[in-house]
Amino acid sequence: MLKPLFVSCTLFLFALSPQQQAADPAQTVIPAEAAKMVNPVKPTPESQAHAKKIFGYDCAMCHGVNGDGKGDLVGDLKLKMKDYTDPAALKDFTDGELFYIIRNGKGQMPAEEVARANPEDVWNMVILVRSFAKK
Ligand code: HEC
Repeated sequence: MLKPLFVSCTLFLFALSPQQQAADPAQTVIPAEAAKMVNPVKPTPESQAHAKKIFGYDCAMCHGVNGDGKGDLVGDLKLKMKDYTDPAALKDFTDGELFYIIRNGKGQMPAEEVARANPEDVWNMVILVRSFAKK
């Protein structure tokens, strides 16, 4: 009597797991077209100041105020962060890839809710993140 129940439970779990994987942001694969996107935004002092403000609210707790990857949450969440003040850190990413990751999240990084609504803010964030490596 118990065995069929066990089997159907197992089948049920199997049926669920692919969906769970698809919803897991750790599985984020960046679509080729997204990676090729070119930044259409020309930064202004105002737009970068705005990006810096959002970064302070939404990103600095992990990435550090100056992008050095030493935010307050890094220890607790055991995150592996890149140091954006090192020019080598982002050199293998296209602007499109950074845009996609900021918009959609990746691994333990949540999607950016505010920026999600406004692509221009996300592009300014890409420019800001790259600028941490410059003086
Ligand atoms: C909860 C911590 C957390 C927050 C908040 C967060 N990130 Fe991240 N971010 C990460 C982690 C962890 C990775 C590495 C993800 C991976 O490769 O699995 C990452 C990756 C990135 C990347 C891709 C390059 C890299 O370092 O691998 C960019 C760009 C980025 N984050 C920007 C931002 C911006 C901009 C914000 C705010 C809008 C933000 N992040 C908020 C944790 C965070």
